[in-house]
Amino acid sequence: MKKIPVGVLGATGTVGQRFLQLLLDHPWFEVTLVAASDRSAGRTLGEAGRWLIGGDMPEQYARMTVRSVDDVGDVPVVFSALPGDVAGATEIAWARAGSFVFSNAGSHRRDPLVPLLVPEVNPDHLDLIPLQRQARGWSGAILTNPNCTTTHAVLPMRPLHDAFGLRKVLLVSMQAISGAGYPGVPSMDIIDNVVPLIGGEEEKVEWEPLKLLGTLGATGIAEASITISAHCNRVAVIDGHTECLSLAFERPPADAEELSAVLREFRAAPQELRLPSAPAAPILVTAAADGPQPRRDRDAAKGMATTVGRVRRCPILDYKLVLLGHNTIRGAAGGSLLNAELAVAQGLIAKG
Ligand SMILES: NC(=O)c1ccc[n+]([C@@H]2O[C@H](COP(=O)([O-])OP(=O)(O)OC[C@H]3O[C@@H](n4cnc5c(N)ncnc54)[C@H](OP(=O)(O)O)[C@@H]3O)[C@@H](O)[C@H]2O)c1
Repeated sequence: MKKIPVGVLGATGTVGQRFLQLLLDHPWFEVTLVAASDRSAGRTLGEAGRWLIGGDMPEQYARMTVRSVDDVGDVPVVFSALPGDVAGATEIAWARAGSFVFSNAGSHRRDPLVPLLVPEVNPDHLDLIPLQRQARGWSGAILTNPNCTTTHAVLPMRPLHDAFGLRKVLLVSMQAISGAGYPGVPSMDIIDNVVPLIGGEEEKVEWEPLKLLGTLGATGIAEASITISAHCNRVAVIDGHTECLSLAFERPPADAEELSAVLREFRAAPQELRLPSAPAAPILVTAAADGPQPRRDRDAAKGMATTVGRVRRCPILDYKLVLLGHNTIRGAAGGSLLNAELAVAQGLIAKG
């Protein structure tokens, strides 16, 4: 198969560089365009900024000339890692010019015609794309992935909701500093500290799973009726979000092992379709008494799995557990890449 040319918008940032890393030697996609702000445009990627994610910038990227994100067109697929305030209008311009935009930004997540997608959770929501194209008159399209904290929370929510009927979720997150981009949280604020506010995060985590777990019907998506309460905290970890969840069910499992087995056995469309970036199992259940932990578990399945541990009864709701996932891989660039692979596998993007 000839590779599909793709662009990365925000290629000088933390998530943009994760895209570049994951797209290196990808079997279906080839990066032919990198774009960022006017501060970087016209320079080579090597001149425009440092490689932020460890190791050296791959030579083939270092040589590429950065283009302005306002210079739209030329590629069938773009991955957007732009800040929310820039992404809104910019992504529409690329979709109008014919690109299929896979966005990490929050700007279009609430649009009823834009799928908010995690391929294991709601692959059927891809059916919104033809409706979006028809209503907006775009030859391209926009598809978003959720916030990084939501992504890792909703992966176990999917099989638990199907098996036991989720009613309530209390979620406390301990989020890595790479989630704030580069240079992110000032060192004087985060070293020796916990910051109990991440602007807008709790609202996203309380709402996005309802769209993701919602049902697509003739008139759009009917949101799931689950009550979620989130406390989101920034902690002094570089990569990997940890989340403590308490859960109430309509039909609670008999014991923690029944709940764990549902998570362990969960497989979905990406595994059945053998998508190139799909983890063999999207949820790993660790037996470690003190797990999961960021340094130990964030790179599980190349950063594409969510690791769950400490499944036990909750004296207030029914059960509680701890989960952990990589925020810039499955929580951002890797999640978006898996969305694009699903769109190709479902025939929404022509193979090269
Ligand atoms: N980090 C995470 O864990 C994570 C997880 C999920 C979703 N996200 C979302 O992903 C997006 C990118 O986040 P990030 O952490 O990668 O941010 P970042 O490190 O700050 O990078 C931002 C990128 O956007 C470009 N940019 C900034 N202002 C621009 C402008 N006015 N016009 C055009 N380009 C502009 C920057 O280019 P220059 O270098 O030229 O300024 C850079 O390439 C955000 O929407 C964020 O909410 C992040």
